[in-house]
Amino acid sequence: MEPFDFRLPTRVVFGSGSVARLPEAISGLGRKALLVTYRDGSMRTAGTLGKVVDLLDEAHVSVVVDEGVEPNPRSDYIDRLARTARKEDCSFVVGLGGGSAMDAAKAIAIAAANDTSILDYMPGGKNPFAEGVNDALPIVTVTTTAGTGSEVTRIAVIIDSKNHYKPGVVHKSLYPTVSIVDPHLMLSVPKEVTAATGIDVLFHALESYLSRYANLFSDFIAQEALRLTVANLETAFRDGSDLEARTNMAWACTLAGLSLDNANVVAIHGIGQCIGGHTDAPHGKTMAALGPAYLGYTYKSSPARYARIAQLLGTPAEGLTEAELAERSSAALREFLAKFDLDISASSLGVTESMIPTIAKEAFLTLQPLMDSSLACLDEADAAQILRLSM
Ligand SMILES: [Fe+2]
Repeated sequence: MEPFDFRLPTRVVFGSGSVARLPEAISGLGRKALLVTYRDGSMRTAGTLGKVVDLLDEAHVSVVVDEGVEPNPRSDYIDRLARTARKEDCSFVVGLGGGSAMDAAKAIAIAAANDTSILDYMPGGKNPFAEGVNDALPIVTVTTTAGTGSEVTRIAVIIDSKNHYKPGVVHKSLYPTVSIVDPHLMLSVPKEVTAATGIDVLFHALESYLSRYANLFSDFIAQEALRLTVANLETAFRDGSDLEARTNMAWACTLAGLSLDNANVVAIHGIGQCIGGHTDAPHGKTMAALGPAYLGYTYKSSPARYARIAQLLGTPAEGLTEAELAERSSAALREFLAKFDLDISASSLGVTESMIPTIAKEAFLTLQPLMDSSLACLDEADAAQILRLSM
């Protein structure tokens, strides 16, 4: 057995109704919080924002609310809210919503703690690895989708407002102190969002299983996350009010988040995030567009692992060699995506032929660790070819 280590630093309060435990969970974090949530008013309309503000009030925490988070949050928004957190003397930051809201909260928390721009910690910034900086303000997430797994990772994905790069800011202090994962809050997620976020869970599990940094711990949880997603996403998609399916997807999401935080994701995320930076396409859809081409292009790098992926996606192993099963992983993924109308092309997301070299280059420039995590050794020409096969 190869030696390895793993991290589980966030306290996760999981289960239907668990949001009611927020007052106890935030005990000791301070008397004033900045809460960020979506601009579209969805959290207010669903009553979730009011509920969370009431719970903070119950805990004697005053709260500055900003409903300004957009899908794919941008650095200028982060910097503005970090200034607000400092001016208002907030001692912690709450992200209410899905990945964009949680990532915004994380980025604000580290920029505010260091009185600087988040751009300093992004590629091309003064300190891209955030070395020697103050720890972020404590971060609390109340997650309302089963998607990014950001509730248990040290990653915040932010777009550089100037050049559209969409890298992740990574720092050990970006693990939330507490994350509330309450599937009851996910019952009203619209069908299309359920699919796109659920597919993101699938890719976190699949990619971390296909990472060169996979270990016994990440393999164990990635396979379970993938199994749960295959068994439950279709039900959650067809009947959003099915609490059992929502709960299983929430658990799959948390497991897949831990898996990617410990083993990393690979070039599907590396290239996909660059597509998102250019087109504003929803994150899960960029993965769906690239995934089958990636598996088809790389399956020979580890027949055993790709064969396992094909099996977890529902391909019967009987009568097939390991190499044949591995080759079928791409078709198995395509079939699964089709159930959610997500057997889609990169061109349908707005990627044009002329953008391919730029996106391939940016994937290595801004997300090299993800590109290098792939089991297959990839260069820019490979990334461009995977994109071409996805068009
Ligand atoms: Fe993702």
